[in-house]
Amino acid sequence: MSALSIIIDTDPGQDDAIALLLAAASPELELLGVTTVAGNVPLALTTLNACKVMELAGRRDVPICAGADRPLDVPLVTAEHVHGDTGLNGVQLPEPTLAVDPRHAVDFIIQTLREREAGTVTLCPLGPLTNIALALRQAPDIAPRIRRIVLMGGGFFEGGNVTPAAEFNFYVDPRAAHEVFTSGVPITMAPLDVTHEALTTAARIEAIRAIGNRVGPVVAAWMEFFERYDEEKYGQDGGPLHDPCVIAWLLRPALFSGRDCNVRIETASELTRGMSVVDWWAVTGLPANAQVLRHVDSDGFFALLTERLSRLG
Ligand code: BDR
Ligand code: CA
Repeated sequence: MSALSIIIDTDPGQDDAIALLLAAASPELELLGVTTVAGNVPLALTTLNACKVMELAGRRDVPICAGADRPLDVPLVTAEHVHGDTGLNGVQLPEPTLAVDPRHAVDFIIQTLREREAGTVTLCPLGPLTNIALALRQAPDIAPRIRRIVLMGGGFFEGGNVTPAAEFNFYVDPRAAHEVFTSGVPITMAPLDVTHEALTTAARIEAIRAIGNRVGPVVAAWMEFFERYDEEKYGQDGGPLHDPCVIAWLLRPALFSGRDCNVRIETASELTRGMSVVDWWAVTGLPANAQVLRHVDSDGFFALLTERLSRLG
């Protein structure tokens, strides 16, 4: 079977970084490019971090393109309180020697979708949806060419993580999230409901640290840093490992369960800005526009992640 072609749009972020490593280590995926966006930290840092991570993965062949440095119509909100001032606190990686591709992320996404056979490229956004919305605005012809958008964002039964109502990625750029969910492109959404089941327990971190390659201790240190905040917040063993759920779904969809629902994003209200309103019980009669993931086999997820990380150097 030929590999599934993907573009990862990301704001690394420790969990984004682990998602990049998982994809880089998986032969089922053809990683066409990594595009960066402002989110967890400003764009210059998310781009630098993407370069560091792809170099750590030994994947110098994948273009890295910088994208939007702010949301569509609201000021940028960042999350240094979760990820540290660099976005990748927990371990210091060497300065990358990889050069950033000169193309803008939005141009790269449009160009790739136009060049590749229609229906073969999957977009994997792991941060605010600004680049994806801009690409759809600038080139509406790409919408039917996208195989699927598989994203981390939103929350419904779990509520929000940055406000009581909203998850971070949708909160940062609610307009972009709204435009993506009304684009007609097939969407799979990994919300907090599923990522809050993918917990970095002490035992899982130790298994990754013990892999015996260069990457194991780096990922363990990231998980420990990132977890510190969430463990205190949620009062549990381990923090949620959000973004790798997107890549794990591509590799092993049977690890996840969910259902097709109508999803709308709040853009107007100050109180509930960025909230994902999921019609789980189909009470609106509105057509489903997303596959919403609800549960994950977390042992299977961490077994997959650990095995894939062990393939890296
Ligand atoms: C999302 O926000 C970021 O902090 C993480 O990288 C993840 O993409 C979780 O709400
Ligand atoms: Ca992210």
